[in-house]
Amino acid sequence: MQLPQRQLRRLANSESTVYQGIILPSPMASGNQRLTQVQTVKPFIEVLSGRCQPVPPIWMMRQAGRYLPEYRNVRARAGDFLNLCFTPELAAEVTLQPIRRFGFDAAIIFSDILVIPYALGREVRFEAGEGPRLQPLDTPEEVAALASQAHFGKLEPVYEALRRVRGELDPHIALIGFCGAPWTVATYMVAGQGTPDQAPARMMAYRYPQAFARIIEVLVENSIEYLLGQLDAGADVLQIFDTWAGVLPPREFARWSIEPTRRIVQGVRKKAPNAKIIGFPRGAGGLLPAYVEATGVDAVSIDWAAEPSLIRERVQNRVAVQGNLDPLALIAGGAALDQAVDDVLANFGQGRLIFNLGHGIQPETPIAHVEQMLKRVRAYQG
Ligand code: CP3
Repeated sequence: MQLPQRQLRRLANSESTVYQGIILPSPMASGNQRLTQVQTVKPFIEVLSGRCQPVPPIWMMRQAGRYLPEYRNVRARAGDFLNLCFTPELAAEVTLQPIRRFGFDAAIIFSDILVIPYALGREVRFEAGEGPRLQPLDTPEEVAALASQAHFGKLEPVYEALRRVRGELDPHIALIGFCGAPWTVATYMVAGQGTPDQAPARMMAYRYPQAFARIIEVLVENSIEYLLGQLDAGADVLQIFDTWAGVLPPREFARWSIEPTRRIVQGVRKKAPNAKIIGFPRGAGGLLPAYVEATGVDAVSIDWAAEPSLIRERVQNRVAVQGNLDPLALIAGGAALDQAVDDVLANFGQGRLIFNLGHGIQPETPIAHVEQMLKRVRAYQG
């Protein structure tokens, strides 16, 4: 694949030498890059490394999922959802399906944020049409009995799936590993299921802050190890999903979303100093600048309600921004979709942007609308 001329020119100005889309690391290159190693340019990684791309790289949260007939097919064969996550051949297959169909710039490993509670020995089930069910963890007594260390052998199939995808993926396409942020994972562990406003976890954090802090602590330590394992298995980038960050008041947001995420970023970088990390504190709104400053992430994923000038002036000036098309505009299609795509590009296209949705794609989304979006983004002229 040839890179566009503009992209090559831009790269040529960076610290590496570029030849026909291949970057040769300069003798001055630092870190653990070996001088003999020839690296292929991944536009997605370029943006995370501070180099704006003329056409923003694009992928979609939940891009492997029920809106794709080929996913529904494999899903039916796997039976149980966790069985799909833990069968490397099938998990690798569904990870690659949206790449084959749409040619996105990044693949995200097919798994779930709730594999960590599962590896901690909690009961985790996915009921058809109902979402996740866990054994609730809502008293200090139960928290005292929570395992400190996950059984990482249970997550070996996720690493194996990553290795398989890595082996098959076009080298220009980035591979994303992920985990849930401790706050969001804790909301499911405490309530035992999804709830509209995460009242059980918020209540527990007020009533039993020490017990709640222990859950968060256990999740921080195990998430660091899990993310490092994913890097080892071939992930280029890590994303931390804090889907329920937006339900917290500012003081609680600082304590339960920012601080644990900061510790995960620090813990991962201690062993992997060049690790690229994206945070997704959904619904953080005006608290995003503080999140970016304190956590040290390389990029933030933003939801569709984010205020463009706040993002440009206080977020995109520091890190890359990922987002933020309303998934409902993708379902609607037509002129409304074109308008929504153009708004994202007009709002953020002049800076470091990874085009994405503001949250996961919904199962009822027509495939033709994904194609319409992709075509419009790729035709972007700056
Ligand atoms: O993005 C991708 O394609 C990678 C796969 C991925 C899944 N879950 C697969 C999945 C990722 C990144 C996740 C993260 C995840 N899981 C989050 C954070 C991101 C977000 O969307 O908010 C959360 C909160 C979960 C927990 C979870 N898993 C819930 C609440 C549900 C039920 C909701 C639903 O859509 O059914 C799941 C199940 C789940 N995880 C599905 C998929 C494709 C649907 C299950 C199925 O196919 O039957």
